[in-house]
Amino acid sequence: MGEAMIVWKVVALFLLLLMPLVLGWGNEGHYATCKIAEEYLSEDALFAVKKLLPDYAQGDLASLCSWPDEVRRDPNYRWSGELHFSDTPDFKCDYQYCRDCHDSYGHKDRCVTAAIYNYTMQLKSAYAGSDSEVKYNLTEALIFLSHFVGDVHQPLHVGFIGDLGGNRIKVHWYDRETNLHRVWDDMIIESALKTFYNSDLSVMIQSIQANIRDNWLNDVSVWEECAHNYTACPEGYAGESVSLACEYAYPNATAGSTLGDEYFLSRVGIVEKRVAQGGVRLAATLNRIFLPHTTIARASI
Ligand SMILES: *[C@@H]1O[C@H](CO)[C@@H](O)[C@H](O)[C@H]1NC(C)=O
Ligand SMILES: *[C@@H]1O[C@H](CO)[C@@H](O)[C@H](O)[C@H]1NC(C)=O
Ligand SMILES: *[C@@H]1O[C@H](CO)[C@@H](O)[C@H](O)[C@H]1NC(C)=O
Ligand SMILES: *[C@@H]1O[C@H](CO)[C@@H](O)[C@H](O)[C@H]1NC(C)=O
Repeated sequence: MGEAMIVWKVVALFLLLLMPLVLGWGNEGHYATCKIAEEYLSEDALFAVKKLLPDYAQGDLASLCSWPDEVRRDPNYRWSGELHFSDTPDFKCDYQYCRDCHDSYGHKDRCVTAAIYNYTMQLKSAYAGSDSEVKYNLTEALIFLSHFVGDVHQPLHVGFIGDLGGNRIKVHWYDRETNLHRVWDDMIIESALKTFYNSDLSVMIQSIQANIRDNWLNDVSVWEECAHNYTACPEGYAGESVSLACEYAYPNATAGSTLGDEYFLSRVGIVEKRVAQGGVRLAATLNRIFLPHTTIARASI
């Protein structure tokens, strides 16, 4: 027994050393969403995206998709902190823009769905040339849009106001103390990486991409749809998120509970599907923004 214990400890230490350095939690979900989007970009959109990215991104949108989380506590960007989510009245389980899109001080049109409309319009009007001068930093617009389309797919970014989207619900994730919001931002993805993907994010992304091709192919065109020929459709995504929060995030995750295999294994598929949908829809939105000029000109008359 003593020997087995020592062997176990050596193995545990070895595994710890092998754990990849992660930049900060939440990054994996955003990286994966944007990486999946890259695959669905039209030629025109890909060209426009690459032109907007700074050189150090080396043409890879995904490498910058967590930037809005990095700057939200920076005094120059504090205004953007309220744009990452849109909480809803407790137990309503639906999304209504007029009721739910406001910041914590009650200012209207300050929330994730408004931000998606905002950055879509900035990019679209500049690209269509309808603004004689560009008023906004379009690199930032692209990165904020890419980040917020990811956020609006995370069910607890459209959670209940009363618990701040799960932030106030303290739980244990296996033996770690955390809160329910972080479970959905990070912990489920982190556990999935360790359990199924050899701690390799690119393996996880490939698996989600294969799932899209093999199991969700018929859904993709539905995911991409945007009614009335709108360019961005964030309200529908927010509605799905709060439904999933009510059906899967909150149940069996009361304050003080310990979440383990049962919760993880029944929720991880939902998280992966939301990442897939976020990626496909980010690409669809960018493809609608960066239509060839002739089409835009016709559409905007
Ligand atoms: C729209 O974008 C501008 C420029 O980043 C920003 O100042 C403003 O707060 C944004 N508003 C919303 C609702 O996203
Ligand atoms: C646009 O924003 C990026 C990222 O914050 C910054 O590096 C760049 O200098 C800005 N461009 C302009 C023209 O202000
Ligand atoms: C959307 O645009 C297409 C092509 O421009 C047009 O044929 C169709 O009627 C439009 N649909 C709606 C609902 O406006
Ligand atoms: C909650 O836990 C109970 C008991 O383990 C289980 O029967 C039920 O299916 C769980 N509900 C959800 C939504 O996971």
